[in-house]
Amino acid sequence: AVLDVDMQKRKKISDHMMGVFFEDISYAADGGLYAELVQNRDFEYSKEDHRGWTATTAWTSNKPVVIDSCNPISKNTPHYAVIARRDTLYNVGWGGISAAPMQKYDFSVFARNAEGGNNVLQVALIGDDGTVTAKGRIKLKGHVWQRYSLPLAVDSKATRQNVRLALTTLKDGCIDVDMVSLFPNDTFKGHGLRKDLAQAVADLHPKFVRFPGGCMSHGQGIGNIYHWQESIGPWQDRKPAKNIWSYHQTRGLGFYEFFQFCEDIGAEPLPVLAAGVPCQNSAADSDGYAGQQGGIDMKDMPAYCQEILHLIEWANGDTATSEWARMRARAGHPKPFNLKYIGIGNEDLISTAFEERYGMICKAVKDKFPEITVCGTVGPFHNPSSDYIEGWKFANAHKDIIDMVDEHYYESPGWFLHHQDYYDGYDRRGPKVYLGEWASRGSRVENALVEAIHLCNLERNGDIVDMASYAPLFCKEGHSNWNPDLIYFNNDSITRLTPSYYTQKLWGTTAGNEYIYSRLQIADSLRYRVAASIVGKLSADDESAGITPGNEAAKQPVGQLWLKLVNALPYHLEIAVNGLAIPNGTECYGFTGAPNDSQVEPYRSSIKGSALSLPPYSV
Ligand code: AHR
Repeated sequence: AVLDVDMQKRKKISDHMMGVFFEDISYAADGGLYAELVQNRDFEYSKEDHRGWTATTAWTSNKPVVIDSCNPISKNTPHYAVIARRDTLYNVGWGGISAAPMQKYDFSVFARNAEGGNNVLQVALIGDDGTVTAKGRIKLKGHVWQRYSLPLAVDSKATRQNVRLALTTLKDGCIDVDMVSLFPNDTFKGHGLRKDLAQAVADLHPKFVRFPGGCMSHGQGIGNIYHWQESIGPWQDRKPAKNIWSYHQTRGLGFYEFFQFCEDIGAEPLPVLAAGVPCQNSAADSDGYAGQQGGIDMKDMPAYCQEILHLIEWANGDTATSEWARMRARAGHPKPFNLKYIGIGNEDLISTAFEERYGMICKAVKDKFPEITVCGTVGPFHNPSSDYIEGWKFANAHKDIIDMVDEHYYESPGWFLHHQDYYDGYDRRGPKVYLGEWASRGSRVENALVEAIHLCNLERNGDIVDMASYAPLFCKEGHSNWNPDLIYFNNDSITRLTPSYYTQKLWGTTAGNEYIYSRLQIADSLRYRVAASIVGKLSADDESAGITPGNEAAKQPVGQLWLKLVNALPYHLEIAVNGLAIPNGTECYGFTGAPNDSQVEPYRSSIKGSALSLPPYSV
């Protein structure tokens, strides 16, 4: 085949297209990215979260575990445990706490002497065989809730094993405990996230991180809408909630941590908030999907709009003038986070109830913060659904308040091959596209190849497709709500980076702000399984690729070009390039594998000679 490159024919494209979609689905937050090792640390699990769950789930004792709610530490976390005199309370973690020799931990707890006096709390890690691998003591003072901290270290002679956390009252009298916490002392940048998982996200070089969902954002029923301000501040004041995916959110991983994580990896935060309606506009408060259409009562909508404006003020405000900004400072971040984007709505049913609330919120944001990019929604994509069509109609009619819209599609590999011109005809005068959730169904090499082809097509349309995020990001083994995901993990480590992960990583590290036109000369019957895309940053006066200082891709040198080639054919392909000189020794990154392989070996080589040689099934 021959690739004809026309260096004179170029267009400006988005240099911040590649991002990640974080949703607390499949145990992505508690038990996942959030490094907390104690499960149900707040004793707030209930049957609303999951059938059969109670405040004692994940806790055991020799006697029944006693839960009380009299004079709690905070009204938002009303339950706590009472450890009887000379008794022990155990937490089993997320199916065991994996402890290695010399591993260090930070333990903390809110505690008080239930009957006054001065008791002593012994904290230990105990293996399945009864071996104590780490131990320490805390002297409790008085009858008032106080937070106590204790460093713990696993004995150097211990074997690596699953342990339980054991809390024992050493003297007479009961002890009340809440917010029982155990973190490894080496979290990502010291900010409480699991190092391996956070690093795997950082390695994708995302230009943005979307959070907290997905359906998590709008929740199941009005009472389950995610209110961002309930997820910040001291742990005990955060409001735990039922997770729409049938488990519990402690909100330990809340908006502060999301913003901090974005800063730590040089990505823009993209918070997505409900458009005043819950999932599918269900008016039901719990067990949603009642079929009624509804949303937040219109009389409460001005307050809900304020809540969203407060988020922008909290993230960007000046501590000299704003109490919201001072809350951010008190949490440890006096400097503004410099929020640029906000998402409103997620795959909502485009009903009247939705439109009136959605329009009201988008207008409120644009009126007060015209500099913020408002990212709307166009409903679920089902080939395409009427919601999708109506959603686009609404966005086009309101482009003064909606800058971009969030499209979602999960389709077969064949769909991607047969929709390569999908965005070619999109109206460039309307809102831009944020492809907020997308994936081909499956997690094999074939999926990674068609996704790479789709990314070539997105780049060709990078003047209208501004941002894109594969979804979902994380899945804990044994807790899957959704397949495929990009990163699979267990308590100890990452168990699988899917082939799609490597496609995302390749595109994440090769951003450009100009698209250079090229044309493949290849037989028509082969064309749809081969794709090319050339992007780069060609002149110094261009806006810099990447956005946030610290982002490696932002340091892309002027004049650097990325030529991306996908060969989804079963045989070797030689490609001669016309119109672009590729010097000997040019670096080449990619992967290959059999279509059904579930893992790939990434490779790195350097180019020799003038023709490019692509192995079968390779990027
Ligand atoms: O990504 C998983 C789910 O897919 C999201 O929560 C939802 O928005 C979509 O239906």
